[in-house]
Amino acid sequence: AFLAGCGNDGGEASSGGKGDGQATIGFSQLGAESQWRTANTKSVQDAAKNNDKITLKFSDAQQKQENQISAIRNFIQQGVDVIAVAPVVETGWETVLTEAKDANIPVILVDRQITGKNVDDLYTSWIGADMKEEGVKAATWLEDYLKEQGKDQEEINIAHLQGTTGSSAQVGRTEGLEEGVKANKNWKIIEQQSGNFTRAEGKEVMEAFLKSSGDKINVLVSENDDMTMGAIQAIEEVGKVPGEDIIIVSFDGTNDALQQIKDGKINAVVECNPLSGEDIMETALKIKSGEDVEKEIFVEEGIFDEKNVEENMPRPY
Ligand code: AHR
Repeated sequence: AFLAGCGNDGGEASSGGKGDGQATIGFSQLGAESQWRTANTKSVQDAAKNNDKITLKFSDAQQKQENQISAIRNFIQQGVDVIAVAPVVETGWETVLTEAKDANIPVILVDRQITGKNVDDLYTSWIGADMKEEGVKAATWLEDYLKEQGKDQEEINIAHLQGTTGSSAQVGRTEGLEEGVKANKNWKIIEQQSGNFTRAEGKEVMEAFLKSSGDKINVLVSENDDMTMGAIQAIEEVGKVPGEDIIIVSFDGTNDALQQIKDGKINAVVECNPLSGEDIMETALKIKSGEDVEKEIFVEEGIFDEKNVEENMPRPY
Protein backbone atom coordinates (compact mmCIF):
# COMPACT_ATOMS: atom_id res chain seq x y z
CA ALA A 1 0.00 0.00 0.00
CA PHE A 2 1.19 3.48 -0.75
CA LEU A 3 0.61 4.85 2.72
CA ALA A 4 1.32 2.13 5.20
CA GLY A 5 -0.29 2.96 8.54
CA CYS A 6 1.89 2.91 11.61
CA GLY A 7 -0.62 2.38 14.36
CA ASN A 8 -1.60 5.93 15.10
CA ASP A 9 -2.43 6.92 11.56
CA GLY A 10 -5.94 8.25 12.00
CA GLY A 11 -6.47 8.33 8.24
CA GLU A 12 -8.23 11.70 8.40
CA ALA A 13 -7.59 14.27 5.69
CA SER A 14 -5.76 16.64 8.01
CA SER A 15 -5.19 17.43 11.66
CA GLY A 16 -7.10 20.09 13.55
CA GLY A 17 -6.69 23.79 12.87
CA LYS A 18 -3.52 25.74 13.58
CA GLY A 19 -2.78 26.43 17.20
CA ASP A 20 -4.49 23.31 18.56
CA GLY A 21 -1.09 21.95 19.59
CA GLN A 22 -1.56 18.88 17.38
CA ALA A 23 0.38 18.04 14.22
CA THR A 24 -0.06 15.54 11.43
CA ILE A 25 3.28 14.54 9.95
CA GLY A 26 3.67 12.76 6.64
CA PHE A 27 6.97 10.87 6.65
CA SER A 28 8.46 9.57 3.41
CA GLN A 29 11.05 7.01 4.46
CA LEU A 30 13.38 6.04 1.62
CA GLY A 31 13.27 2.28 2.19
CA ALA A 32 14.18 -0.63 4.43
CA GLU A 33 17.56 -1.48 2.93
CA SER A 34 19.53 -1.80 6.15
CA GLN A 35 19.33 -2.49 9.88
CA TRP A 36 20.09 1.20 10.37
CA ARG A 37 17.07 2.17 8.27
CA THR A 38 14.78 -0.21 10.17
CA ALA A 39 15.98 1.35 13.44
CA ASN A 40 15.37 4.84 12.05
CA THR A 41 11.81 3.93 11.01
CA LYS A 42 11.13 2.40 14.42
CA SER A 43 12.52 5.47 16.17
CA VAL A 44 10.17 7.74 14.19
CA GLN A 45 7.14 5.48 14.65
CA ASP A 46 7.76 4.99 18.39
CA ALA A 47 8.29 8.70 18.98
CA ALA A 48 5.00 9.42 17.19
CA LYS A 49 3.14 6.72 19.11
CA ASN A 50 4.42 8.04 22.41
CA ASN A 51 3.39 11.59 21.65
CA ASP A 52 -0.36 12.25 21.86
CA LYS A 53 0.05 15.49 19.91
CA ILE A 54 1.27 13.69 16.78
CA THR A 55 -0.49 11.78 14.04
CA LEU A 56 1.97 10.05 11.72
CA LYS A 57 1.37 9.04 8.13
CA PHE A 58 4.16 6.75 6.99
CA SER A 59 5.26 5.77 3.50
CA ASP A 60 8.13 3.44 2.47
CA ALA A 61 9.61 4.31 -0.95
CA GLN A 62 11.61 1.11 -1.45
CA GLN A 63 14.75 3.05 -2.39
CA LYS A 64 13.01 4.79 -5.34
CA GLN A 65 12.98 8.57 -5.65
CA GLU A 66 9.83 8.49 -7.81
CA ASN A 67 7.97 6.76 -4.95
CA GLN A 68 9.12 9.49 -2.57
CA ILE A 69 7.93 12.19 -4.94
CA SER A 70 4.48 10.51 -5.18
CA ALA A 71 4.33 10.15 -1.38
CA ILE A 72 5.11 13.84 -0.90
CA ARG A 73 2.42 14.79 -3.45
CA ASN A 74 -0.03 12.56 -1.62
CA PHE A 75 0.82 14.22 1.72
CA ILE A 76 0.28 17.64 0.12
CA GLN A 77 -3.13 16.53 -1.14
CA GLN A 78 -4.07 15.30 2.32
CA GLY A 79 -3.07 18.64 3.82
CA VAL A 80 -0.66 17.33 6.47
CA ASP A 81 0.90 19.95 8.75
CA VAL A 82 4.52 18.95 8.19
CA ILE A 83 6.27 16.72 5.66
CA ALA A 84 9.36 14.80 6.76
CA VAL A 85 11.46 13.13 4.11
CA ALA A 86 14.63 11.01 4.16
CA PRO A 87 15.81 11.71 0.59
CA VAL A 88 17.27 8.67 -1.15
CA VAL A 89 19.55 10.81 -3.36
CA GLU A 90 20.75 14.42 -3.14
CA THR A 91 19.39 15.82 -6.42
CA GLY A 92 16.01 16.18 -8.11
CA TRP A 93 13.86 17.61 -5.30
CA GLU A 94 13.25 21.19 -6.46
CA THR A 95 9.90 20.62 -8.21
CA VAL A 96 8.12 18.59 -5.54
CA LEU A 97 9.46 20.64 -2.62
CA THR A 98 8.37 23.81 -4.38
CA GLU A 99 4.89 22.26 -4.56
CA ALA A 100 5.01 21.71 -0.77
CA LYS A 101 6.19 25.28 -0.27
CA ASP A 102 3.38 26.62 -2.47
CA ALA A 103 0.92 24.63 -0.34
CA ASN A 104 2.47 26.22 2.80
CA ILE A 105 3.57 22.84 4.18
CA PRO A 106 6.94 23.01 5.92
CA VAL A 107 9.46 20.25 5.19
CA ILE A 108 11.92 18.55 7.54
CA LEU A 109 14.76 16.61 5.92
CA VAL A 110 15.69 13.49 7.84
CA ASP A 111 19.12 11.81 7.76
CA ARG A 112 20.26 12.69 4.24
CA GLN A 113 20.68 16.10 2.61
CA ILE A 114 19.78 17.57 -0.78
CA THR A 115 21.58 19.78 -3.30
CA GLY A 116 20.41 21.97 -6.18
CA LYS A 117 19.45 25.54 -7.01
CA ASN A 118 18.04 27.43 -4.02
CA VAL A 119 17.16 24.19 -2.21
CA ASP A 120 17.90 25.83 1.16
CA ASP A 121 14.63 27.75 0.79
CA LEU A 122 12.68 24.54 0.26
CA TYR A 123 13.02 23.01 3.73
CA THR A 124 12.78 24.35 7.26
CA SER A 125 15.12 22.03 9.09
CA TRP A 126 17.42 19.07 8.54
CA ILE A 127 18.10 16.46 11.24
CA GLY A 128 20.92 14.01 10.68
CA ALA A 129 24.60 13.16 10.76
CA ASP A 130 27.60 14.89 9.21
CA MET A 131 28.43 12.25 6.59
CA LYS A 132 31.67 13.87 5.39
CA GLU A 133 32.88 14.06 8.98
CA GLU A 134 32.12 10.33 9.29
CA GLY A 135 34.36 9.65 6.26
CA VAL A 136 37.10 11.81 7.77
CA LYS A 137 36.78 9.88 11.06
CA ALA A 138 37.21 6.58 9.19
CA ALA A 139 40.38 7.82 7.48
CA THR A 140 41.80 9.27 10.70
CA TRP A 141 41.13 6.04 12.57
CA LEU A 142 42.90 4.07 9.81
CA GLU A 143 45.91 6.40 9.92
CA ASP A 144 46.24 5.97 13.70
CA TYR A 145 45.73 2.22 13.55
CA LEU A 146 48.36 1.73 10.84
CA LYS A 147 50.83 3.74 12.94
CA GLU A 148 50.06 1.65 16.02
CA GLN A 149 50.59 -1.52 13.98
CA GLY A 150 53.87 -0.23 12.50
CA LYS A 151 52.31 -0.41 9.02
CA ASP A 152 52.16 3.29 8.24
CA GLN A 153 54.97 3.07 5.65
CA GLU A 154 53.50 0.05 3.86
CA GLU A 155 51.58 0.15 0.59
CA ILE A 156 47.90 0.42 1.54
CA ASN A 157 45.48 -0.84 -1.11
CA ILE A 158 41.90 0.03 -0.26
CA ALA A 159 38.77 -1.66 -1.56
CA HIS A 160 35.95 0.83 -1.16
CA LEU A 161 32.36 -0.38 -0.97
CA GLN A 162 30.12 2.63 -1.45
CA GLY A 163 26.51 3.23 -0.47
CA THR A 164 23.67 4.21 -2.82
CA THR A 165 25.24 6.31 -5.57
CA GLY A 166 24.33 9.99 -5.26
CA SER A 167 22.98 9.73 -1.70
CA SER A 168 24.45 12.29 0.68
CA ALA A 169 25.61 9.38 2.89
CA GLN A 170 27.69 8.01 -0.02
CA VAL A 171 28.89 11.39 -1.27
CA GLY A 172 29.95 12.62 2.17
CA ARG A 173 31.64 9.44 3.36
CA THR A 174 33.46 9.05 0.03
CA GLU A 175 34.69 12.67 0.15
CA GLY A 176 35.98 12.19 3.69
CA LEU A 177 37.81 8.98 2.82
CA GLU A 178 39.26 10.39 -0.40
CA GLU A 179 40.70 13.34 1.52
CA GLY A 180 42.49 10.84 3.76
CA VAL A 181 43.80 8.98 0.72
CA LYS A 182 45.16 12.21 -0.76
CA ALA A 183 46.95 13.03 2.48
CA ASN A 184 48.67 9.62 2.64
CA LYS A 185 50.98 9.03 -0.32
CA ASN A 186 51.16 5.26 0.29
CA TRP A 187 47.34 4.81 0.24
CA LYS A 188 45.50 3.93 -2.94
CA ILE A 189 41.86 3.08 -3.63
CA ILE A 190 42.23 0.13 -6.00
CA GLU A 191 38.57 -0.93 -6.09
CA GLN A 192 35.52 1.31 -5.71
CA GLN A 193 31.89 0.39 -6.39
CA SER A 194 28.43 0.78 -4.89
CA GLY A 195 26.79 -2.06 -2.99
CA ASN A 196 23.66 0.06 -2.51
CA PHE A 197 23.77 -0.24 1.31
CA THR A 198 22.48 -3.85 1.25
CA ARG A 199 24.05 -7.02 2.57
CA ALA A 200 23.41 -9.01 -0.65
CA GLU A 201 25.02 -6.41 -2.92
CA GLY A 202 27.86 -5.88 -0.46
CA LYS A 203 28.72 -9.57 -0.79
CA GLU A 204 28.42 -9.57 -4.58
CA VAL A 205 30.62 -6.49 -5.04
CA MET A 206 33.24 -7.77 -2.58
CA GLU A 207 33.36 -11.06 -4.49
CA ALA A 208 34.09 -9.07 -7.66
CA PHE A 209 36.78 -7.00 -5.85
CA LEU A 210 38.46 -10.20 -4.62
CA LYS A 211 38.34 -11.72 -8.08
CA SER A 212 40.02 -8.77 -9.75
CA SER A 213 42.41 -7.56 -7.03
CA GLY A 214 42.64 -10.59 -4.71
CA ASP A 215 45.80 -10.51 -2.61
CA LYS A 216 46.50 -6.82 -3.22
CA ILE A 217 43.61 -5.65 -1.01
CA ASN A 218 44.73 -5.01 2.56
CA VAL A 219 41.99 -2.59 3.68
CA LEU A 220 38.23 -2.58 3.14
CA VAL A 221 36.25 0.59 3.79
CA SER A 222 32.56 -0.25 3.57
CA GLU A 223 30.00 2.53 3.84
CA ASN A 224 27.53 0.59 6.00
CA ASP A 225 27.38 -2.40 8.32
CA ASP A 226 25.00 -4.43 6.15
CA MET A 227 27.38 -4.34 3.17
CA THR A 228 30.24 -5.11 5.56
CA MET A 229 28.48 -8.26 6.78
CA GLY A 230 28.07 -9.41 3.17
CA ALA A 231 31.70 -8.56 2.41
CA ILE A 232 32.95 -10.54 5.42
CA GLN A 233 31.14 -13.59 4.07
CA ALA A 234 32.82 -13.10 0.66
CA ILE A 235 36.25 -12.68 2.31
CA GLU A 236 35.83 -15.85 4.38
CA GLU A 237 34.65 -17.80 1.35
CA VAL A 238 37.99 -17.19 -0.40
CA GLY A 239 39.85 -18.38 2.70
CA LYS A 240 41.02 -14.98 3.96
CA VAL A 241 40.71 -13.75 7.54
CA PRO A 242 38.63 -10.57 7.90
CA GLY A 243 40.13 -8.13 10.38
CA GLU A 244 43.62 -9.65 9.88
CA ASP A 245 44.38 -10.22 6.19
CA ILE A 246 42.09 -7.30 5.42
CA ILE A 247 41.61 -4.43 7.88
CA ILE A 248 37.91 -3.53 7.88
CA VAL A 249 36.38 -0.11 8.61
CA SER A 250 32.59 0.16 8.53
CA PHE A 251 29.84 2.69 9.26
CA ASP A 252 26.63 2.68 11.37
CA GLY A 253 27.27 0.82 14.64
CA THR A 254 24.68 -1.96 14.73
CA ASN A 255 24.83 -4.54 17.47
CA ASP A 256 25.79 -7.19 14.87
CA ALA A 257 28.72 -5.08 13.68
CA LEU A 258 29.96 -4.45 17.21
CA GLN A 259 29.79 -8.18 17.85
CA GLN A 260 32.07 -8.58 14.81
CA ILE A 261 34.52 -6.12 16.40
CA LYS A 262 34.50 -8.33 19.50
CA ASP A 263 35.12 -11.35 17.28
CA GLY A 264 38.04 -9.55 15.59
CA LYS A 265 36.46 -9.50 12.11
CA ILE A 266 35.75 -5.76 11.91
CA ASN A 267 38.43 -3.35 13.15
CA ALA A 268 36.41 -0.14 13.51
CA VAL A 269 32.89 1.19 12.99
CA VAL A 270 32.12 4.89 12.63
CA GLU A 271 28.78 5.51 14.30
CA CYS A 272 25.82 6.91 12.38
CA ASN A 273 22.96 7.46 14.79
CA PRO A 274 19.47 6.52 13.47
CA LEU A 275 17.56 7.46 16.62
CA SER A 276 16.23 10.81 15.45
CA GLY A 277 12.51 10.17 16.09
CA GLU A 278 12.16 12.38 19.19
CA ASP A 279 14.02 15.27 17.54
CA ILE A 280 11.77 15.03 14.48
CA MET A 281 8.56 15.16 16.59
CA GLU A 282 9.85 18.04 18.69
CA THR A 283 10.92 20.01 15.62
CA ALA A 284 7.61 19.38 13.83
CA LEU A 285 5.59 20.59 16.83
CA LYS A 286 7.75 23.71 17.13
CA ILE A 287 7.34 24.48 13.44
CA LYS A 288 3.57 23.94 13.68
CA SER A 289 3.29 26.36 16.60
CA GLY A 290 5.37 28.98 14.78
CA GLU A 291 8.52 28.70 16.93
CA ASP A 292 11.96 29.14 15.36
CA VAL A 293 13.96 25.96 14.79
CA GLU A 294 17.59 25.31 13.90
CA LYS A 295 18.26 24.93 10.18
CA GLU A 296 20.61 22.01 10.91
CA ILE A 297 20.29 19.61 13.84
CA PHE A 298 23.19 17.19 14.20
CA VAL A 299 22.81 13.86 15.99
CA GLU A 300 25.70 12.81 18.25
CA GLU A 301 28.09 10.10 17.10
CA GLY A 302 31.20 8.22 18.14
CA ILE A 303 33.53 5.54 16.80
CA PHE A 304 33.89 1.96 18.00
CA ASP A 305 36.90 -0.36 17.96
CA GLU A 306 38.40 -3.08 20.14
CA LYS A 307 39.30 -0.49 22.79
CA ASN A 308 35.73 0.58 23.62
CA VAL A 309 33.48 -2.10 22.16
CA GLU A 310 32.65 -3.80 25.49
CA GLU A 311 31.39 -0.63 27.16
CA ASN A 312 29.18 0.16 24.15
CA MET A 313 27.33 -3.17 23.96
CA PRO A 314 24.53 -4.05 23.70
CA ARG A 315 23.50 -1.49 21.12
CA PRO A 316 19.87 -0.38 20.83
CA TYR A 317 19.71 -1.49 17.16
O1 AHR B 1 21.88 7.52 5.37
C1 AHR B 1 22.35 6.67 6.35
C2 AHR B 1 22.77 5.38 5.76
O2 AHR B 1 21.67 4.79 5.10
C3 AHR B 1 23.24 4.32 6.72
O3 AHR B 1 24.60 4.27 6.85
C4 AHR B 1 22.83 3.09 6.01
O4 AHR B 1 22.92 1.91 6.75
C5 AHR B 1 21.51 3.45 5.51
O5 AHR B 1 20.95 2.60 4.63
